[in-house]
Amino acid sequence: MFQILTVLLLEMQLSMVSALFTVEVPQQLYIAEYGSNVTMECRFSLNGSVDLRLLTVIWEQKRQDSSKSKGVYTLRNGKVVPPSQDPDYIGRASLLHSELKLGRAILQITKVKITDAGSYLCLIDYQGVDYKYIALEVKASYKRINTQVMRKTDEDKIVFMCQSEGFPLAEVFWRNEKSFNLSGLANTTYTLTADGLYNVTSTLTLKPNTNENYTCVFWNKKLNEETSAHLALMSAQYSRQKLVMSFIIPTCVTVAVLLSALIIFQKRKTFQNGQPRKEKKRKRNPSLKDENSDDLNPQTEALYLPTVTASRDSGIVGL
Ligand SMILES: *[C@@H]1O[C@H](CO)[C@@H](O)[C@H](O)[C@H]1NC(C)=O
Ligand SMILES: *[C@@H]1O[C@H](CO)[C@@H](O)[C@H](O)[C@H]1NC(C)=O
Ligand SMILES: *[C@@H]1O[C@H](CO)[C@@H](O)[C@H](O)[C@H]1NC(C)=O
Ligand SMILES: *[C@@H]1O[C@H](CO)[C@@H](O)[C@H](O)[C@H]1NC(C)=O
Ligand SMILES: *[C@@H]1O[C@H](CO)[C@@H](O)[C@H](O)[C@H]1NC(C)=O
Repeated sequence: MFQILTVLLLEMQLSMVSALFTVEVPQQLYIAEYGSNVTMECRFSLNGSVDLRLLTVIWEQKRQDSSKSKGVYTLRNGKVVPPSQDPDYIGRASLLHSELKLGRAILQITKVKITDAGSYLCLIDYQGVDYKYIALEVKASYKRINTQVMRKTDEDKIVFMCQSEGFPLAEVFWRNEKSFNLSGLANTTYTLTADGLYNVTSTLTLKPNTNENYTCVFWNKKLNEETSAHLALMSAQYSRQKLVMSFIIPTCVTVAVLLSALIIFQKRKTFQNGQPRKEKKRKRNPSLKDENSDDLNPQTEALYLPTVTASRDSGIVGL
């Protein structure tokens, strides 16, 4: 009779101790940007100061599409146990040790990868065992959009191209200045990079009869996030022309000066009557103008394309 009572009391005490020790999570879901750092926190109950030699903290990760868990970080009886760490986390996962005495087991993961997403188990043993799960989602915005405007010389068409990397897979839309949706004319393809990002390339091929500007929009449906780039045909062309003109004009001026010098020199030779200075002034200016207008027209036509513009978000940067 008494024996049963003591056993019952003992069991009650034991269950009270384990009920006393709890692990809580202040935040159940974390969303981290690819490449950034993330810290995930578990809190465990304490009474008084912590004796680290009695503390065991285990962090494990399980991906949605996998049945196996990966060791992220293990502290057993106050000592780090590196062999249990998955190679994926070596050098990237750490426990903020200074926080332990405050009852906080904070896991930090640096340079977050797409494969870090999943469910994290945090199990703590400190004179009692408890655990919780934390979810980590990783996103990568299509931040940097590379743009290119090319001319298909064989077909007399212009190809507008936008390329960017992100996660999850984005849809690409195209529109012109009048906000006409041109997505039906676009060809969007993607590949997966070694880092698990989607490398999305979208091209829009058009006849070059319109000197319009176009916008490509990357829509990250899951995050409901939009980034866009502006492809300006005219400005790209113009800056290219400016570049070449700045080279042609000085060349023409030099040639004109040399030519007029030659003419003057020959005239001086023919009529040595003491009036070479007036000739010089009259001749130089017209010849300079002629050189310019004759030389520039065929050149500018040939300068139509190709050009490259780079753009970030919705800004316009012509090269
Ligand atoms: C991420 O953490 C590492 C190591 O603690 C640090 O050097 C780096 O500056 C952090 N990066 C960011 C973006 O906070
Ligand atoms: C709380 O502290 C007392 C005395 O230091 C100790 O006997 C007991 O095991 C501790 N309980 C927990 C849950 O840490
Ligand atoms: C889209 O582009 C890819 C790669 O450039 C090409 O293989 C494919 O044939 C294109 N599809 C269409 C419909 O043009
Ligand atoms: C993405 O794809 C483009 C062409 O489709 C390629 O030039 C580029 O190197 C790729 N980037 C990465 C990081 O794989
Ligand atoms: C296209 O964009 C450029 C630069 O933003 C601008 O100068 C030009 O006027 C635009 N073209 C049209 C047709 O609106």
